[in-house]
Amino acid sequence: MPAVVIVGAQWGDEGKGKATDLLGSRVDLVVKFNGGNNAGHTVVIGDEKYALHLLPSGILSPGCTPVIGNGVVVDLEVLFHEIDGLEARGIDTSRLVVSANAHVIADYNRTLDKVTERFLGSRKIGTTGRGIGPTYADKMNRLGVRVQDLFDEKILRAKVEGALELKNQILTKVYNRRSVDVDEVVEELLGYVERLRPMVADTPLLLHEALERNETVLLEAGQATLLDVDHGTYPFVTSSSATTGGACTGSGIAPTQITRVIGIVKAYATRVGEGPFPTELFDDDGETLRQNGGEFGTTTGRPRRCGWYDAPIARYAARINGVTDFVLTKLDVLTGFEQIPVCVAYEIDGERVEEMPMTQTDFHHAKPVYEYFPGWTEDISGARSLEDLPANAQAYVAALEKISGSRISTIGVGPDREQTILVHDLLD
Ligand code: GDP
Ligand code: IMO
Ligand code: MG
Repeated sequence: MPAVVIVGAQWGDEGKGKATDLLGSRVDLVVKFNGGNNAGHTVVIGDEKYALHLLPSGILSPGCTPVIGNGVVVDLEVLFHEIDGLEARGIDTSRLVVSANAHVIADYNRTLDKVTERFLGSRKIGTTGRGIGPTYADKMNRLGVRVQDLFDEKILRAKVEGALELKNQILTKVYNRRSVDVDEVVEELLGYVERLRPMVADTPLLLHEALERNETVLLEAGQATLLDVDHGTYPFVTSSSATTGGACTGSGIAPTQITRVIGIVKAYATRVGEGPFPTELFDDDGETLRQNGGEFGTTTGRPRRCGWYDAPIARYAARINGVTDFVLTKLDVLTGFEQIPVCVAYEIDGERVEEMPMTQTDFHHAKPVYEYFPGWTEDISGARSLEDLPANAQAYVAALEKISGSRISTIGVGPDREQTILVHDLLD
């Protein structure tokens, strides 16, 4: 009964979408288990490029059932917009299943996300402004609206009323905004009911039955380990559990059913939004990584902060997630650098520290200790086996494998599905 998890091992945008797509033809179901349309997964198949935000990347694989799990927060307008966009390009989305227990992003939470960020000023998180944080906060505060609530108007109205009782006070008295009308919110949400109804299911039961039939379930994370609300660089994180533990709670699949955990890690590092990033570059090398790697957000278009590979972070992600295999992505982006620094430890207040420090204060003070590896100039985008790589690129991969806490089973040398080196089978 194989359940396989894909998680981001850094700060997001490692290439989870491509990795999911690579396995899409070999799995029966792909489940998104956390986050919402704060995610942006780009998948390139031949001449076609898809940017997915809310839908699991498995939607692009014919024969695979895409599932939006209970741990996801769903913006219904975005859901149908994304479905329509894919259908217009000839992608069949009819197999999509949505959990009855997933929470719905109401318009007032999008508003609150944006005004809170403005209110925070220099203390802002740099969120995507999609209402993610306030919607998860409602879930934890037991004020949330779930997909199933849309099928009972009385319950829906009571829940929206309950949520707005407090939020309208905050919106008007703290943020000086206009209050939100209960009827308007209820009406908007009810407008989606007929289209939504056939997609909604008891997804934990559906997944359990699929596993019983020995089907393969792929659990695809949004965001990443260092953005996880528990294990990330809090408070500069997203509001969901983006790690393997979240794959269980966000889908209803038990930990004992997970057979593989695939960590996606870039050959360098990037981050969008605020928060600590020890290997961040502010020089020409950072700009070269940004330009060569196309490091601009899929969701917000913001330039991504770029830096060198951080091994303590990778080891941390390996531990937190129980990574069995790493997929190392974007190795091709390093082509042309004379030497490539890798952060192997930190220096914190004059001391060498090998692992992710315990406190936020220490992490803010962490200076990278670099080891330097010789670069290569050959174009590697056509490499399809380790032997096709120049010796220095092979040595770089071997060095990363040694210090990152798990084996590297797949290497990306370009955005296309085909631009991939398979070292060990990710599913076998
Ligand atoms: P995700 O959020 O983890 O799915 O990653 P994103 O899609 O936001 O960002 C990864 C970007 O890198 C996308 O534009 C991918 O098409 C691209 N990409 C993925 N793997 C590779 C690779 O091995 N080489 C290059 N050059 N680009 C890649
Ligand atoms: P994928 O799935 C990179 C970041 C935001 C911000 C913080 C909180 O494509 O890897 P939120 O809107 O979630 O409350 O913002 O998290 N963030 C991401 N960064 N990739 C993502 O998703 C992200 N989703 C959220 O930039 O710093
Ligand atoms: Mg992304």
